[in-house]
Amino acid sequence: MRLITATNYTDMSKLAAEIILKRIKETNKVTLGLATGSTPIETYKYMIEDYQQNKTDYHHVTTFNLDEYVGIGPTDPNSYYYFMQTKLFNAIHIPEQQTHIPNGLAKDLRQECIAYEEKIKNHGGIDLQVLGLGSNGHIGFNEPGTKFDTRTHVEQLTETTRRANARFFNTLEEVPTHAITMGIDTILQSDEILLLVSGEEKSAALTQLLESKKK
Ligand code: F6R
Repeated sequence: MRLITATNYTDMSKLAAEIILKRIKETNKVTLGLATGSTPIETYKYMIEDYQQNKTDYHHVTTFNLDEYVGIGPTDPNSYYYFMQTKLFNAIHIPEQQTHIPNGLAKDLRQECIAYEEKIKNHGGIDLQVLGLGSNGHIGFNEPGTKFDTRTHVEQLTETTRRANARFFNTLEEVPTHAITMGIDTILQSDEILLLVSGEEKSAALTQLLESKKK
């Protein structure tokens, strides 16, 4: 593990964008795992800026998002589908068929999870996975206590996570109770993981993670 310290959120976002863009520019085929939430927003802004300045090509890039809420659809501004279109995809002109996000409205959620895993596998796995960290330590929507051998599955969200994400909704009741998420094993099979952590509310979870790595 390599720990890169940044002076602030903007600095972290620039460094993260540089790492992602290096992969995109130096390889002729790349599969990215992407996160939503507040943390990567500025990283995506730098990627958009780069696109506008350098016309970076995204035709060789495939993306798989980590997760999606169950029960809300692509046109809902709180869906992760909507987030990705408005915060990154539309502006960088990546072909839509090369972007993948679990379908939180799937009739058969179990089948949706299996199919998502299959798609990742068929693309040869994830080369670079971008992750945020929940204040309770979750990655993707894998809540604390999730087994390490999990693949894409439906997760029941903890009260802490629902409360943390309530800032995007009108009321806490509107926050979905479940999400489809890549499992811990799915994430750990990525060739490289870029975990972005910013904000005091993440410090306990980050300290725990760094301490456990020393053991
Ligand atoms: C988002 C995701 C979540 C977030 C985490 C941190 O796709 O998988 O694990 O990364 O909840 O969220 P923010 O960045 O809003 O603090």
